[in-house]
Amino acid sequence: MTIHPSRTSAEHTVAHHYARGGLIEVIESGLAQMGKTTDTVTIDDLSAVDEFHIGGRKATEELMAQLGITAADHVLDVGSGLGGPARFLADRYKCRVSGVDLTPDYVETGLRLCQWLGLDDRVTLHQSSALAMPFQEATFNKAYMLHVGMNIEDKENLCLEIARVLQPGALFAVYDVMRTAEGELLFPVPWATTSDSNMVSGPERYKRALERAGFEILSERNRKDFALAYFAELKARSLAGGVAGSLGLHTLMGEKRQDQIRNMITCISNGIIAPCELIARKA
Ligand SMILES: C[S@@+](CC[C@H](N)C(=O)[O-])C[C@H]1O[C@@H](n2cnc3c(N)ncnc32)[C@H](O)[C@@H]1O
Repeated sequence: MTIHPSRTSAEHTVAHHYARGGLIEVIESGLAQMGKTTDTVTIDDLSAVDEFHIGGRKATEELMAQLGITAADHVLDVGSGLGGPARFLADRYKCRVSGVDLTPDYVETGLRLCQWLGLDDRVTLHQSSALAMPFQEATFNKAYMLHVGMNIEDKENLCLEIARVLQPGALFAVYDVMRTAEGELLFPVPWATTSDSNMVSGPERYKRALERAGFEILSERNRKDFALAYFAELKARSLAGGVAGSLGLHTLMGEKRQDQIRNMITCISNGIIAPCELIARKA
């Protein structure tokens, strides 16, 4: 897959941070350990690896339940990663989903996963920046963005670009790690190795950018407690081991993952950052 020619150097840094070669082989071998093949794999088998945000599938389900998605919808996934949330929506609500993501390895792997699950007719993934998406004006009537804004400094143009491709009245859900108090953020974290590529902002910055782009904010929710419960559950599961652990965030994340996750949990526990939801409607 070719790299998008107009990528900025910040976008190169982000794509490099997430790049992971040989992902499809690692996922196939994890499935084999679970007694599954590419013909028998289900959406649920992949959820530990293809939902790359705090709370995994549960967080996706709880956010999407607020969007009233139907089979008639064409939904945009901003920063789709491996496409787990997109496939989940297409399967559950029978809608169409189009995703964009900077990281070629994720897009290539995600497209293969869509084929394995027979969802390639309803889910398409494109290698592109969220700041210049390959879609016409007013293409979508719903959109969401899960754990992506922590890598995007220009939230104003991000919101304008999302507004451009949404129809009037469309709902947009954000679920990002946001800054919730002053204090020193520890590095590395899962989205950035150093502070140079950390673009975490507070909910106020998101809300201003959304409102300037013509969105009305409908709701806001801090998911700190949900996040801490999720991490406690992950720890218990990892201590229990077994085949359930064959696929997971370890499949996606590099060798710094233990430090990244520990630092993120410390900062969430201290109240400096938290995963937060925002639901907005384009006027
Ligand atoms: C933590 S992962 C989340 C992936 C996916 N949303 C999920 O929840 O499974 C962050 C993703 O954002 C993508 N990303 C970061 N900045 C981006 C940008 N400017 N345009 C498109 N994708 C971006 C990265 O490539 C990465 O796949």
